[in-house]
Amino acid sequence: MFFQPGEHQQHGLPHNPFKSLVVPRPIGWISSVSREGIVNLAPYSFFNAVADSPPCVFFASNAGTRPDGIKDSQRNAEETGEFVVNIATWDLRDHMNETSASVPHHVNEFELSGLTMAKSKLVAPPHVAESPISMECRYLQTVEMPSTQAGRGNFVVFGEVLGFHIDDSIVNEGGLVEPPRFRPLARLGYMDYTSVEQVFSMLRPGQKAT
Ligand SMILES: Cc1cc2nc3c(=O)[nH]c(=O)nc-3n(C[C@H](O)[C@H](O)[C@H](O)COP(=O)(O)O)c2cc1C
Repeated sequence: MFFQPGEHQQHGLPHNPFKSLVVPRPIGWISSVSREGIVNLAPYSFFNAVADSPPCVFFASNAGTRPDGIKDSQRNAEETGEFVVNIATWDLRDHMNETSASVPHHVNEFELSGLTMAKSKLVAPPHVAESPISMECRYLQTVEMPSTQAGRGNFVVFGEVLGFHIDDSIVNEGGLVEPPRFRPLARLGYMDYTSVEQVFSMLRPGQKAT
């Protein structure tokens, strides 16, 4: 099969397969605060780490049909210069899902989903106390995706991680973080998800085991 996106969508499938091709996508669970002080929390699976030193991340927001053309996480990051990435886990899957609801600007999704706001050390947005990993970030910049097609506005929001919270329970005796201990959630296509349960190791050519 070969198909082109946009007007040419000739895949003949019931749903566009794109999001089930780039899988699994980690979920950045973004907490932020508006200029007025309203706390916000929402999941983004167009999310990843983009640099190691200094550590940098991005999440990408599709404005979709929002009347104001921008989602709260993006607006808050841009207006206040800060956000936090929390890692969604298998145990927190229902909470994560609840925080994706389209609710009015004044609704705090921590309260909506029964999560605890933990005070952050370096930035104003609280982090998810129940999540074993949170990264306090400084907003860097937003890139509006140029497009060959008329479509919804797509914006990539970049941030630099200023501080990491890691729960001791996910670190093994050798000092290594073990993903199966917290089962991070990741997005597949359609309504599907996966979580990290298994790990295997491979050495790069010429590399010695540490
Ligand atoms: C698992 C999951 C992943 C999502 N990923 C994205 C994404 O990458 N980009 C996006 O714009 N919306 C994404 N959404 C939808 C947003 O979470 C939703 O629009 C939310 O209301 C945005 O909240 P905000 O306006 O408070 O930022 C995702 C939803 C779920 C459940």
